[in-house]
Amino acid sequence: MEEKKSFLKEKIDINSPNKNIVPISTSIGSDGKLSIGGCSIEELVKRYDSPLYILDEITLRKSCRAYKKALEKYYPGKSLPIYASKANSSIFMSNLVASEGFGLDAVSEGELLTALKGGVPNKHIVFHGNNKSDKEIEFAVKNNIKVIVDNDYDLERLEELSNSFDQDLEIMIRFTPGIECHTHEYIRTGSFDSKFGFGIEYLNNLFARISNIKHLKLKGIHAHIGSQIFELDPHKDLGEIMVNVILEAKKFGHDIEELNVGGGLGIKYTENDDPPSIDEWVKTISTSIVKACKKQNIDLPTLMCEPGRSIVSTAGITIYKIGAFKEIPGITTYLSVDGGMSDNPRPITYQSNYSACLVSNPFNFNSKKKYTIAGKHCESGDVLFKEIELADCKTGDLICVFGTGAYNNSMSSNYNRIPRPAALLVFDGEAEVIQKRESPLDLLRYDVLPDRFIKQN
Ligand code: LLP
Repeated sequence: MEEKKSFLKEKIDINSPNKNIVPISTSIGSDGKLSIGGCSIEELVKRYDSPLYILDEITLRKSCRAYKKALEKYYPGKSLPIYASKANSSIFMSNLVASEGFGLDAVSEGELLTALKGGVPNKHIVFHGNNKSDKEIEFAVKNNIKVIVDNDYDLERLEELSNSFDQDLEIMIRFTPGIECHTHEYIRTGSFDSKFGFGIEYLNNLFARISNIKHLKLKGIHAHIGSQIFELDPHKDLGEIMVNVILEAKKFGHDIEELNVGGGLGIKYTENDDPPSIDEWVKTISTSIVKACKKQNIDLPTLMCEPGRSIVSTAGITIYKIGAFKEIPGITTYLSVDGGMSDNPRPITYQSNYSACLVSNPFNFNSKKKYTIAGKHCESGDVLFKEIELADCKTGDLICVFGTGAYNNSMSSNYNRIPRPAALLVFDGEAEVIQKRESPLDLLRYDVLPDRFIKQN
């Protein structure tokens, strides 16, 4: 049998999972089929059906520990890594990151509630967002969760709340440092035209204003420059810029104790991707801050960072079952699967690329042709892969897509009234449900037929 080169044969880096395409516990059973966390994927699908999201606990924990270890090494005793829960928010994920000593970044009441339910300590949660509702801000304040002030509207409402509760509040402010980086324009946030945060040129006014607000204490500053970034220089520059902002704030009497550099480290989705390791990323940012603080002769602030994708993406895979084939001679062969843009909107939204293989033939023995893998939604653009080489396959075979732990489940929808997949956690030969599969009936829960329509029919 002819054996193709396969990403599954690449050496796995256990110290920086974002540098791998596959989860750390990926293996090929004696039957030649794919397994993860010691569980046969075919068996999992027999039991839990498809499509199926699966998270590998070892990869998740190794990713968290890589951040912790690097922070201890390059920024000892003064850091807090914070998981950006938008990447994959669940009670389980909140619980796991808390157990690894992480805080959590939330951007809605839903994410805040999930974090609290998952056991993340209030004091380790930060609340972001460019348009927080009154209810959300109140919820955060009442729960002693630190709000990251994104704009004047946030500031006004926090001033009012702190006055009405006659309570001192610690806040952070978010600003746009004016750093460009090479990533998709939808996920670039540090440039001057971003919708997030205060423009850096406005900060002096802001510092003066906060000095006059009785109950607000400016505890920290925040910036996030974008996502899926492979360069290190933008984060090096960010460290220096942020230390300069601390100096400026001092002139207005603010002692900034916390410096939050956001997230953004990229992961390896395909063989062409080569992101830096977690260690390199943390080293770059830490060294830049330490150096700048030394130069300016100021105390080191507490360093916070907010990784999302690089914690959870590589830990996740999605399993689909192949249904219909459509061969268009001279053009392509469509192979349709039982999920698509509702469980993974990234290809249609950002033209994102992934890696995939057949569960029953992961090394691609006897691969002969290329396929276009289509989702099942009523939308021509619902295509997960264009022209991917796969082993010979047939209806009923399973496909595994790698790197789907981040921004898949959390960005999923019920388009075409398609229920969301179940999600499993695998570890040491055991699989546990962390999200139940939705049923079509679940999707009717919030539909209401007004009484007069019931009478008419
Ligand atoms: N902190 C803030 C304030 C953020 O806005 C984000 C991501 C992060 C941290 C985490 O960034 P990460 O480490 O995951 O790169 N839906 C897009 C990604 C949007 C990212 C939004 N903000 C995607 O699927 O690629």
